[in-house]
Amino acid sequence: MLLFQKSILSRESVGGMHMTKEIRKTAQAMVADGKGILAMDESHSTIEKRFKEIGVENTEENRRKYRQLLITAPGLGKFISGAILFDETIRQKTNDGIPFPKVLEQQGIIPGIKVDKGAKPLSLFPNETITEGLDGLRERLQEYRSLGAKFAKWRAVITIGKDIPTKACIKANAHALARYAALCQEAGITPFVEPEVLMDGSHSIETCLEVTTQTLAIVFKELKALKIDLKGIVLKPNMVVSGISSPDQAGPEKVAELTIKCFKETVSPKVPGIAFLSGGQSDESATLNLNEMNRKFKGQVPWKLTFSYGRALQRAALKAWNGGDANIKAAQEA
Ligand code: 13P
Repeated sequence: MLLFQKSILSRESVGGMHMTKEIRKTAQAMVADGKGILAMDESHSTIEKRFKEIGVENTEENRRKYRQLLITAPGLGKFISGAILFDETIRQKTNDGIPFPKVLEQQGIIPGIKVDKGAKPLSLFPNETITEGLDGLRERLQEYRSLGAKFAKWRAVITIGKDIPTKACIKANAHALARYAALCQEAGITPFVEPEVLMDGSHSIETCLEVTTQTLAIVFKELKALKIDLKGIVLKPNMVVSGISSPDQAGPEKVAELTIKCFKETVSPKVPGIAFLSGGQSDESATLNLNEMNRKFKGQVPWKLTFSYGRALQRAALKAWNGGDANIKAAQEA
């Protein structure tokens, strides 16, 4: 019996070493210099909102056509290191029958997959949410790996409002993020860890700083408690910005300064890179803010700083496409 246990243990540790190397390599490739990550993992209800803006019907075929347009854009791999797909999308194929993950690989882009099942109301905590999707995740990760996914994404949502966020909500979400990250690393998939403090509201940038600092501190405490290999994750946070309805909008210089201050206090230097979400910022603001951070702090911080935008990358392409086959080239150029 003892011998049996020993052989299992040693097999696991050899496998474990191999996995560690793989997840670290993927994490580094995700934040490679000069490249960012394309978030194209909108759920059916989110893509419905985006399609509505351009008057396109939300059918499986239209979703396939639109996502095909994105991933087949010529030269995309020069600027994009990885793309986050949705469950439906990772199973879809081009007009020529090539599976989407394969197309990405041919472009030199790492395929990723959103694995959370969305933010749901947190019982007993009005106006707060908990992200679901842990049950059965081990098995789903195995399947996604076989479909070509090398990294995964899980988004936790923290809302700023009257008397919120509560510490209980932040802790529950941080714990779920850590359990997700552990399952990913066990499966040889690099976890993209996304605690998003929403920019909705009229709060000041200082409030966003306070809440983001508290959130990231708790997230890293939970990651450490669950033995996550921090060299094998990528962090996907919000920038520290003013609430979207605040009359006092901080400019790029202040956003860069407070965002980096926040990370210096909370993010382990072992983490190879930080790839921001755009979170409803305009394309221009999201770009200017990130540029300012890199201009001022590149080389002074231990992490690579890049983007993992959804809206801020797709807005122009979506508008140019407008649902028309004749507009594909214009959309890809956008
Ligand atoms: P946005 O950049 O549109 O916020 O989307 C990024 C993302 O992946 C949200 O989970």
